[in-house]
Amino acid sequence: MRARRMKLVGGLAVAVAVVGGLGATGAAAAPGGGEGPRYTAGAPGAGDAYFPYAGNGGYDVQHYDLDLTYAPPAPEPAPLEGRLDGIATIDLVATQDLNRFNLDLRGMDVRSLTVNGKAATAIAPPAIGATVDGAAYWHVQDDDRRVWELTVQPRPKLKAGQHAQVVVEYGGTTTVPLDIEEAEYGWVTTRDGAIVASEPDGSMTWYPVSDHQTDKASYGFEITVPEGKVVVANGVQSKPEETSGGWTTWFWDAPDQQASYLTTASVGDFDLRETTYSSSGVPIIDAVDTKLSPARLATTNASLARQADMIDFFESRFGAYPFNSFGSIVDNDSVGYALETQTRPVYSSQASQGTVAHELAHQWFGNAVSPERWQDIWLNEGWATYATWLWTEQNGGTTAQQAYNAWYAPARTTAYWSLQIGDPGPLGLFASQVYNRGAATLHALRVEVGDEAFFAATQLWLERYDDSAGTAEDFQAVFEEVSGEDLDGFFQTWLYGQAKPPATWTLP
Ligand code: ARG
Ligand code: ZN
Repeated sequence: MRARRMKLVGGLAVAVAVVGGLGATGAAAAPGGGEGPRYTAGAPGAGDAYFPYAGNGGYDVQHYDLDLTYAPPAPEPAPLEGRLDGIATIDLVATQDLNRFNLDLRGMDVRSLTVNGKAATAIAPPAIGATVDGAAYWHVQDDDRRVWELTVQPRPKLKAGQHAQVVVEYGGTTTVPLDIEEAEYGWVTTRDGAIVASEPDGSMTWYPVSDHQTDKASYGFEITVPEGKVVVANGVQSKPEETSGGWTTWFWDAPDQQASYLTTASVGDFDLRETTYSSSGVPIIDAVDTKLSPARLATTNASLARQADMIDFFESRFGAYPFNSFGSIVDNDSVGYALETQTRPVYSSQASQGTVAHELAHQWFGNAVSPERWQDIWLNEGWATYATWLWTEQNGGTTAQQAYNAWYAPARTTAYWSLQIGDPGPLGLFASQVYNRGAATLHALRVEVGDEAFFAATQLWLERYDDSAGTAEDFQAVFEEVSGEDLDGFFQTWLYGQAKPPATWTLP
């Protein structure tokens, strides 16, 4: 859960020129014309209005294999910089005839690049507004653009439907990358390793990637660190770690479809604990920093001890846990928030019970079913917050209705009410309104359609968009389908209204 306050909401003029008509057109027709391949460049972004250059077009990634070697910083007074060297092997399928395509990569140097074993050219991105192959390649107008693109020119070119294996050898100095709000994210170098938490577009700081949740893939990790350090990534250890010559290699396997922002491979002095299981058999793999203070360790241990019960409870409301494992990474260092990294959330400094419930709930809401556009972030944070209300009620704490009332009752500023949680802007992704008005929206929806339709529609939403992504409109359509009600007015008021919603929605 977020511990920082946002700096500014909605004040940024984000370039949207590439959205919609993404992708270059206008390459010459194939000889003979008609049905032959028409090779064009893949789009430099996935089409997200908030982050126009996150993700890429023209292909669909199936799998990332990340073979990394990491040396954490030397002790103080050495600078807080690590060294990361990697070989990323990316299996993809072309979705158009491609003469070039992009990967997102930030702050790393590419040493070699092959496509299907043949040397490919890495092209520096053209200047903003440049023309490529006779077509406007991309064009943005604002100065706050965030553009980190690696253009790959495969030879031979790729035909639509063709599988390709892209191998990128790269490396660089790791620091502490900042997101659009200047929060720490990505491969965050710590004195004892790294906290890796990449929402929304920070995976490009540590591997070449199509960094948008509309292109999910499976992952394999082979990560080498100095002997004594522990690497914890998504999924399960595919085989025991191997040590030689003072270095240890850790092997993790994450076979479930996963959005790039949910990838982690955190490095530290972790106590990697013995696996426990939920009553439905989900393996729970926890890693806790050996340097936590006794008080924080006690809080953390008490929270982690509830994970199996939380899985049982959420399964009873939302359906089967969606992935092959769960568990927590608790780092003594902090990025100021926790993140629901898939199967294995990352916590800063300690893990409180409410935050553990929140990050677990994200495995259904956000991870199994992702927001198709970043503007749909309330589907993540509203749901994770609401699920925590439900968990608290289940434990004999305040009821969801009491939590709703406590949110609804107090006087709040005009600025608070005016944030549209259905379109909070790239600087408003983690605004408190997205969390709390988001949860209140779900509670009000439950009152509106009734408990039975609410939980049935929730499960249908999770089933229909599993391993995929959906929008607020898709969500509304599922609730209308199940309840038989027209919910236009409801969602208009709650997601896009800029005032306090009327007191129509209260439970007895
Ligand atoms: N999704 C995280 C959570 O609510 C919060 C991430 C905050 N990220 C950030 N860059 N400020 O659990
Ligand atoms: Zn959250």
